[in-house]
Amino acid sequence: MSGGATATAPLRIAALPGDGVGPEVTDAGLAVLEAICDRAGLTCAVSRHPIGGAALDATGEPLPAATLEAARGADAVLLGAVGGPGWDHAPVRPEAGLLALRRGLGAFANLRPVVVWPGLEATSPLRPERVQGADILFVRELTGGAYFGRPKGIAGTTPHRRAVDSIEYAEGEIRRVAEVAFAAAERRRRHLTSVDKANVLASSRLWRSVVEELAQEHRAVTVDHCLVDSFALRLLQEPRAFDVVVTENLFGDILTDEAAALTGTLGTLPSASGGGDGPWLYEPVHGSAPDLVGRGVANPLGAIATIAMLLRHTLGREDLARRVEAAIAGIVQRGPLTPDLGGDGTTATVTAQVVAQVGREVAA
Ligand code: IPM
Ligand code: MG
Repeated sequence: MSGGATATAPLRIAALPGDGVGPEVTDAGLAVLEAICDRAGLTCAVSRHPIGGAALDATGEPLPAATLEAARGADAVLLGAVGGPGWDHAPVRPEAGLLALRRGLGAFANLRPVVVWPGLEATSPLRPERVQGADILFVRELTGGAYFGRPKGIAGTTPHRRAVDSIEYAEGEIRRVAEVAFAAAERRRRHLTSVDKANVLASSRLWRSVVEELAQEHRAVTVDHCLVDSFALRLLQEPRAFDVVVTENLFGDILTDEAAALTGTLGTLPSASGGGDGPWLYEPVHGSAPDLVGRGVANPLGAIATIAMLLRHTLGREDLARRVEAAIAGIVQRGPLTPDLGGDGTTATVTAQVVAQVGREVAA
């Protein structure tokens, strides 16, 4: 929540398009950002840097030092997607670049809003009346837990190989992400659900006790603790029962995909990651979608929704964020829609429509 463009200093954006449909949707997001900056009298300076498989092919590393340096020096980082079948057998996976970037930016809090847009209820696998109005903000811990815990690895030789992953959390790592979640709940409907597995895992018992402590300092927020298996069930039974949900890295990875399914498509969901001293990282949730590459039909709304998050979190421009979201809401109701939403629109036609709408909205 820092940095930003003024009349004299442009907003510095490090664009990391990455793999698969990443470049296509990043271009869509940038087109919308440029349109809204134009209309609002802001300027942005965009630089592009390789990450993921594209970086592996070009430099042998999934996160070249120059990319991390450029990202750290920017006001905001826009990421497309990383990974794809081409690197399944690579000794270093493209995803390692994304994990290193998250760590390198100190991006310990991952905000994933899951909103069932009015007009899209029928695309949900759940009955429309069950999902209508669902609006959940997931706050996923992003730089700890099983993703980074040591020891980690596979040792020995077949048939005696053994593998280990470690879930480790320091109290401070839990507290700082929970603080982000409490602050978000205070701005929203003041209900926080903390998800853990405290009946089995020590890391979850510490998680729960830290969240309980913080609850004493945030009396306006109603706090529930929910075991992860039971939460997975309740999310499908009563998605509208949740406001802000905070959880550790691996549970958050799984539950945010489950929650995305409620909306009927991964294609519209954005995320923002930050909290440390680096700039925030904005990324659509959908991933590299190898089957869609080069067909011009990737849904750009996820990347465009990340622009709204950027305007809100990095620039503090709630007004501009809402303009972008209003344009998305208009598309969802009136089209054009990409094939994942049952339409015959393309990345280009949807983007052009948002660009036109954003221009009108801001000028109005
Ligand atoms: C996500 C993705 C990543 C994760 C992968 C690509 C490493 O699934 O952002 O949810 O597991 O965090
Ligand atoms: Mg995931």
